[in-house]
Amino acid sequence: MFAKETYIKRRKQLMKDVKHGVILMVGNGDSPFNYPANVYSFRQDSTFRYFFAHNLQNLVGVIDVDNQEEYLFGEDVDIEDIIWTGPVPSMRDRALEIGVENSGNINDLRKFLDAAIFAGRKVHFVPPYRAENVNFIAELLHVDRNYVKAYVSVELINACVKQRSIKSEEEIVEIEKAIDTAYNMHTTMMKMAAKEGTYEYEIAGMMEGMALAGGGPVSFPIILTTHGEILHGHDHSLQIKKDRMIVSDAGCENPEGYCSDITRSVPVGGKFSSRQKDIYEAVLAAQTLVPSLIAPGVKYSEIHIAAVTRLASALKELGLMKGNVQDAVAEGAMGMFMPHGLGHMMGLDVHDMENYGENYVGYDKKNVRSTQFGLASLRLGRELQEGFVLTNEPGCYFIPALIDTWRAERKCKDFINYDEVEKYKDFGGIRIEDDLLVTKDGCRLLGKYIPKTVAEIEDYMSL
Ligand code: GLY
Ligand code: MN
Ligand code: MN
Repeated sequence: MFAKETYIKRRKQLMKDVKHGVILMVGNGDSPFNYPANVYSFRQDSTFRYFFAHNLQNLVGVIDVDNQEEYLFGEDVDIEDIIWTGPVPSMRDRALEIGVENSGNINDLRKFLDAAIFAGRKVHFVPPYRAENVNFIAELLHVDRNYVKAYVSVELINACVKQRSIKSEEEIVEIEKAIDTAYNMHTTMMKMAAKEGTYEYEIAGMMEGMALAGGGPVSFPIILTTHGEILHGHDHSLQIKKDRMIVSDAGCENPEGYCSDITRSVPVGGKFSSRQKDIYEAVLAAQTLVPSLIAPGVKYSEIHIAAVTRLASALKELGLMKGNVQDAVAEGAMGMFMPHGLGHMMGLDVHDMENYGENYVGYDKKNVRSTQFGLASLRLGRELQEGFVLTNEPGCYFIPALIDTWRAERKCKDFINYDEVEKYKDFGGIRIEDDLLVTKDGCRLLGKYIPKTVAEIEDYMSL
């Protein structure tokens, strides 16, 4: 964990922003895999970890804003637990380690909250996303579990988003460590993808191992597929074959819990065919345009539009599109080639703070989410600020079912050359993704540079 002053400062700021009431932060526990004693690997709740540091099970943090008091609740272990878990610090020591003066057990928490509720005080909490925590909060606050979401605190969500959106220097250091591990994951993939006949799961398995060797788990289930047109395809069962592109979208968490999220797309065997090169360079042109447009005050939705416009120009040159590219983008034609957004925030969560609700993180009153297919999937649309960490991940996909549907509907027929697109139905997809920090006057690529141009990838894969 960082020095305790970091967490003290974060909680102080939160008190200032939330202004009144009691803030309840429920940490995660273990979740059973197939029976209670056999559990999934533990993942702490990011809100709890951001403000209360501990990467341990079954802890609850409370901030009494009205009285400027902080509490850490949880159970002290006894000798029976120690046999299985080894010695662990007392709750009091855990609290003091992060600058929290008060500690107690879960019964003390119940009494504290009962008194607060009886006094009519507001209890703030962010949306829980695990059934166990929905039930726990329902029980603590004496509300029906089906209505827990109705009591979520928008003030707390906004205060958390405000702080967590701006990454400090020490957070950037951790994010870059996670990206450096992702470098190992993706360069390992490139080497393995050079050999036709390898199974996708062999590559994905090695990549996951590299993540673990970097000190943390993967930040989301690895996407490693020769069917890149399936956007979140987690199947790894196929043997890799010549003429297919591999889309490798993977990142990790480092021991401090900070994430990386990188995508590279490479040709099986290590040499791009001319068709693969054409589409790859179209996506790369959009991807390399983005950093030049990023600066505080610029809306990421506008950069998304600039990126898909660049992609549209390239697809027009290839004969896949026609007509005026600006009009094509305005009509939503690019949704067929890139149905997802240009990027999202990244931090302690790979889609940072997504449990709060995407619109609280990526949009605000001035910047409302579009409902147009494609642009509607953009998770971050609002004005950028110095200190944001975000992804830049354009892609181009040939999704047979989507092509058929749009063609049958004659959708965007003035902009899409369906006869030409038809020939690409066996292509798959391409995505290229890097992680960027918004700086005072632009942005900075985070982490070690990972081979990205056609020449760099071909060179790397031939070594
Ligand atoms: N891992 C999915 C994404 O890049 O957002
Ligand atoms: Mn990704
Ligand atoms: Mn991403």
